[in-house]
Amino acid sequence: MKDILDLISPGKPFLPDALNAMQLGRANAMRHLWLTASVSLLAQPGTGIRILEVGSWMGASMLTWAAAIDRFVAGEGEILCVDTWAPYLGVDDINVDGAYRVMDRAAAIDLAYAVFRHNASCVPKKVRVDHLRGRSKDVLSMLRERAFDIVYVDGSHYYADVVADLTEARRLVADGGLLCGDDLEQQVTEIDEAYARDNIDRDALVDPKNRKAFHPGVTLAVAEVLGPVSSYTGFWAMRREGDAFVPVDLSGASPFVPEHFGEEYRRTVLEWARSSGFFKKQA
Ligand SMILES: C[S@@+](CC[C@H](N)C(=O)[O-])C[C@H]1O[C@@H](n2cnc3c(N)ncnc32)[C@H](O)[C@@H]1O
Repeated sequence: MKDILDLISPGKPFLPDALNAMQLGRANAMRHLWLTASVSLLAQPGTGIRILEVGSWMGASMLTWAAAIDRFVAGEGEILCVDTWAPYLGVDDINVDGAYRVMDRAAAIDLAYAVFRHNASCVPKKVRVDHLRGRSKDVLSMLRERAFDIVYVDGSHYYADVVADLTEARRLVADGGLLCGDDLEQQVTEIDEAYARDNIDRDALVDPKNRKAFHPGVTLAVAEVLGPVSSYTGFWAMRREGDAFVPVDLSGASPFVPEHFGEEYRRTVLEWARSSGFFKKQA
């Protein structure tokens, strides 16, 4: 199947909305800015960056990491992607809407894995991308302590899985490096915690107290493993200082919109960056 994609889109990323390849939809696409901002924050001339991504789907975030490595450390970096590329959503979620059904089906017929491998072959030449296909709880335990400058957790959002991923991820971050992730729209103090606890095996829901969407498993697991964290429109991050994890300020970082964003995504993200006024430097 990858051969077909290589023919359809030679040397160029393949990220169709019909397959939910961008994952976030236009309204949330600004989240990729936080990935580029994170790399800019850690970048030091002559020093490479090692990134571990837990949950890669079709490779949209992997492509963003690769673009940031290319821009900020001249391609001197590597990304290790860990994913099952297999169905993982529960039936209650699959029955919610078409996007979940498409994801489940694309994983079942191995299309997600083929698209990921095609997209991994489209990164800038010097950037190295490796992948390990397996359950994160099996794979992460085999990785060397403090081996990564950035560990990005965006795998299963079910509570027990996120607790396991974060517990391992903590161990894998180098001193001065970032532990970060996606889908923390609200922290535990903002939500109805009892409702979240009753729904730890659901992907995303609307909080009955404040009517805002959130991922119960992510909110509860982050609070339990790390406590309050720095968070930016769903992206969250903490920096390792010795044995502690401290908040991260991304406002002085240098984000950019990566090439693999289509025109509409690019426009939406730039509009958000301008209207939010968050970044001191131009996105
Ligand atoms: C939200 S998607 C990742 C999106 C991706 N980071 C992006 O932004 O383009 C979640 C991914 O986690 C993977 N996943 C789910 N459970 C997993 C597990 N137990 N171990 C490894 N990967 C898992 C799924 O196959 C899926 O590709």
